[in-house]
Amino acid sequence: MSKSRILVTGGAGYIGATAAAMLLDKGYAVTILDDLSTGFKKNIDPRARFVQGSLLEKGACHQALSEVETVFHFAAKSLVNESMSKPDIYWKNNVLGTRTLLDQMREFNVQKLVISSSAATYGEQSSSHIKESDLGEPTNPYGATKLAIDNMVLGEVHAYGIAAVSLRYFNVAGAYKLIDLNSKESKYIAELHNPETHLIPNIIKATKSEPIKIFGNDWPTPDGSCIRDYIHVEDLIESHIKAMENLENGKFEIYNLGSGTGYSVKQVINAAENVLKREIPKIEAERRAGDPAILISDINKAKEKLDWVPTKNLEDMVRDTYSALLAAGKI
Ligand code: UFG
Repeated sequence: MSKSRILVTGGAGYIGATAAAMLLDKGYAVTILDDLSTGFKKNIDPRARFVQGSLLEKGACHQALSEVETVFHFAAKSLVNESMSKPDIYWKNNVLGTRTLLDQMREFNVQKLVISSSAATYGEQSSSHIKESDLGEPTNPYGATKLAIDNMVLGEVHAYGIAAVSLRYFNVAGAYKLIDLNSKESKYIAELHNPETHLIPNIIKATKSEPIKIFGNDWPTPDGSCIRDYIHVEDLIESHIKAMENLENGKFEIYNLGSGTGYSVKQVINAAENVLKREIPKIEAERRAGDPAILISDINKAKEKLDWVPTKNLEDMVRDTYSALLAAGKI
C-alpha cells in the first residue's frame, strides 16, 4: 500500500518534477498540478495523478487536492531578472496563487504545507553566511513575493493551526537520474529553461561563438564576480522529505538550503573546466539587474533540526547537468 498522498504543485518543472519522482520512488502517492506554462509534459511522472491547470483556477485546485494530506508547493515564477521587468506577473502568480492554494487547502482540511522559497528573500546582507533570523530585504520583486508568501503562511499557521515549513533555496543545480523500469534506459530531470538564464547550464552550453557572459567584474568580491551557494537538486528534495516528517500543527519553520560554501562565477567556470576537461569560452559583460553580490547560506539549522547534510559537491552538479543536457540533445 502506498504512503499518504502528496500534491506537488509545479510538478512538471525542474525542481517539482524531481520532488514528484523522489516521493514516488519512496512509496508516496503523488498528484501533480501544473499549468505547463514553464514546465514540460515529458517531466510528468506517469506514476502520478496529473491535473493540468493553474493555482488561480479554483476548479483545477479543487480537483488536485482530492485525497491529499500534504502539499509541496513549487508552482511559481522564479527568475530574478524577469521579475524586474514583469513584477505584476510575479505578484499575481506567486502571491495570489499561494493565497488561492491556502484557501482551497482550508476548504479541503489539508493541514500540511512544504513551501519552496528562496534566498532571494534576504537580498544583500552584511553577514557572510545568511541565517534564517536575518531580516529579509529583497533586491528584486521575485524575492519580495517569496517573502510576502512566508508572511502570509505565518498568519495562516497562527490563525488556523496548520503545519508549514518554508525552505529557502540558494542556487539549485544538477539533475536527477531516473531509471525507466520498462526500457531500462536512464532519463534525467534537468533544468531546460527556454531561454536558459542559469549559470551552470549556460557554462556547459557555451561555445566560441556564444561564450558564457560573466555578469559584472567589479562586484565587491575577491575576483570581482558574484558569489553564490550551489546545492544539488537531489540533496534539496531529500531535505523537503525530512522537513515534511518534522511538520507540527500550529508551527511554521524556515530553513536555509544550500551547501554553506560560496563560489564566484569565475570559480564555477573553473570547476566546469576541470570536470569537462576543456576550456570554457567566456567574456566579461555588464552587471545583470537585480543581482546581489554575495549569497551564502548558514545551513546549521537544517543540519541540526532536520538531521540533513548535503552530500553532493559543485563538480557533481556540473557532471550531472552535463549528462542531462547531453541526454536531452541540448549540447
Ligand atoms: N551569471 C552569469 N552569467 C550567466 C548566468 C548567470 O554571470 O549567463 C551569474 C549571475 O549574475 C549570478 C550567478 O551567475 O551572479 C548565478 O546566476 P543564476 O541566474 O544561475 O541564479 P541567480 O543567483 O540569479 O538565482 C537563482 C534562482 C533564484 C534564487 C537564487 C537564490 O534563479 O530563484 O538563485 O540564490 F532566488
